[in-house]
Amino acid sequence: MSLIALGVTGGIGAYKAVEVARGLQQRGHEVVAIMTRGAQNFVGPVTFEAITRRPVITDQWAAGMNSSVEHVALAGSIGLLLVVPATAHTIAKLALGLADDFLSSLALATTAPLMVAPAMNTHMLEHPAVQQNLQILAARGAHIVEPGAGYLACGWVGKGRLAEPDDIVEAAHRLLTPPRSLAGRRVVVSAGPTYEDLDPVRYIGNRSSGKMGIAIAAEAARRGAVVTLVLGPTSTEPPAELDIVRVRSAADMHAAVLGASETADVVVMAAAVADYTPASVEGEKIKKGDADLSLRLVRTPDILRELGARRGEAAWPVLVGFAAETSDVVARAREKLAAKRVDLIVANDVARRDIGFEADANEVTFVTAEGDEPLPLAAKTSVAASLWDRVERLMASRPLPAAAS
Ligand code: PMT
Repeated sequence: MSLIALGVTGGIGAYKAVEVARGLQQRGHEVVAIMTRGAQNFVGPVTFEAITRRPVITDQWAAGMNSSVEHVALAGSIGLLLVVPATAHTIAKLALGLADDFLSSLALATTAPLMVAPAMNTHMLEHPAVQQNLQILAARGAHIVEPGAGYLACGWVGKGRLAEPDDIVEAAHRLLTPPRSLAGRRVVVSAGPTYEDLDPVRYIGNRSSGKMGIAIAAEAARRGAVVTLVLGPTSTEPPAELDIVRVRSAADMHAAVLGASETADVVVMAAAVADYTPASVEGEKIKKGDADLSLRLVRTPDILRELGARRGEAAWPVLVGFAAETSDVVARAREKLAAKRVDLIVANDVARRDIGFEADANEVTFVTAEGDEPLPLAAKTSVAASLWDRVERLMASRPLPAAAS
């Protein structure tokens, strides 16, 4: 179990953070509470000290806090930084990377995941500044525990009430104890671009960084799957525990994915595979002349379509594709779902700069035979977790594969 730093900031929901601390302890976690100055107007540190049985950190400059540079020391030993409640002010400081008190300094110094549970007046929550700051945090990988709606302490009725303490505890516990829901399953994920060589120095490529596919592969491994990642040329580093097959061209990726998929339970094609490749590769660098130059391109094999055809009427492997579109995104994804005979298409709008290619965040719609499920903007790591939740539901709905039955 983990040591959790519980940041308590100055909102009326601060008293509910006491229940969160207790709930985390009941799940076997250790809790160290950090209170901002504002929080201490709502609850006294003694309450948290009594519950957590640890000194409560209330001041960056208190005696003893700097002999071992406490925020750095603590940063290395926590498994999670959880902020309950997170006020608009603290959310803004975290988004900006300010470090003017212990909590905000710790947030910069730690590599542990960040989870925030916002709570504030409805109009404050809806303000574009707060929404943008939450989006910045989500895009960086922070986990947001959505506030609930109802009667607020300020007398308004609307969204902004701190999520229920039990839900916050559950979200934190889930993050710290990954489900082993894919244990024993074999998964193949493709990621990154392909490079189609023109001559020894030039190629046709695309902007894929591999981040989306790598996040999907890493999440499958976190859930216990044996993962083969077929990775196109990218400088994004995948986690070492994956079985990584490096490829360059669409033809390489075709061979690697089809081979690895023979024994797979799930195949996810997140790679941006070239649809066309030069008809021939010149052995020498193409010389520049005065005349224009035309290239003849020929079609590459459609890997996902071949996987769909090879599976035919069988239930396995579960097949997931992406649709990278710049208009009519969901309608085109639906066409791909049918044409490629797959189970799920993840539709994303690659005309946007804040999502899709290269970005750390994505905003996708899951398209299945059952309908469309739009997801909010989130870090690619969160999209990957939602994808596996959805794929696991698809897996549960079909008969066990021969090897597992
Ligand atoms: O890598 P990032 O920078 O993180 O960016 C992520 C992403 C934008 C690349 C990713 O989210 C994404 O959309 N991947 C699919 C890109 C793509 O090639 O989409 P498509 O609509 O052209 O292809 C549809 C599906 O067929 C895809 O699953 C693709 O992998 C597959 N395909 C395409 C061509 C081909 N020859 N063989 C294939 O299997």
